[in-house]
Amino acid sequence: MTYVVKSHKHAHRIFNLIAPIYHLVDPLVRIWYKKASVKLDKNIPLQGKSILDVGSGTGAWGALLQQRGAEKVHGVDIAELMVRGAKRRYRGKLTFSLVDGENFDEFEDGSFDLITASYVMHGMLRNSRQKMLEEMNRLAKDAIIIHDFHGEQPAFARFLEYMENSDYINFKKTFCEEMQEIFPLIYKLSIDKSDAIYIGFKSKEKTLEESKYLIKCNK
Ligand SMILES: C[S@@+](CC[C@H](N)C(=O)[O-])C[C@H]1O[C@@H](n2cnc3c(N)ncnc32)[C@H](O)[C@@H]1O
Repeated sequence: MTYVVKSHKHAHRIFNLIAPIYHLVDPLVRIWYKKASVKLDKNIPLQGKSILDVGSGTGAWGALLQQRGAEKVHGVDIAELMVRGAKRRYRGKLTFSLVDGENFDEFEDGSFDLITASYVMHGMLRNSRQKMLEEMNRLAKDAIIIHDFHGEQPAFARFLEYMENSDYINFKKTFCEEMQEIFPLIYKLSIDKSDAIYIGFKSKEKTLEESKYLIKCNK
């Protein structure tokens, strides 16, 4: 589940390599995704929404959002084998295509209500994250939703991130600031000690229902 995207070529190679076994961790990851999707839905109702899931991987995150009522979920990923596996697993339910999340030329501005990415950003370098956030902002009608790390991770996850040379340490320090460069209104929804959902609204007027989980983004 952890990795570093030093370049597109690297992401492409790593994820195609692990695609045949990556879905084996899905039962565990789905437990975290379920918790996150329930809290997200309480704050941003997903019913009837069209959603683009960037770095869709096995399709597990997108599938959970659909279960919460999203009307249409389309996943994009840079790795062919990830896309192939997701298409096979969720045929007739979700759609997927091979697209680089830093360049969404094929999609028009505002073509989805919400754009999301789960466990994608912390593996990328800051300049790539910035390009991806800008593209997500362009495609979103309402908001973008980034599910990823914050706070303390369990020791084994820290070890894996270190071994795999992920950018998670910088990510956790600067991601709110990176979001603030693009979005006028940002919330952070704490899921648990290690995971959070970062929400970037395109308009300052939006407010989330008051929730004990909401914290200031730059905290
Ligand atoms: C840790 S996985 C995400 C798991 C996914 N959320 C799920 O539900 O299975 C990261 C995914 O991001 C994809 N990815 C990395 N860089 C990308 C990019 N620039 N554009 C699109 N997908 C990218 C990888 O190929 C990989 O499948």
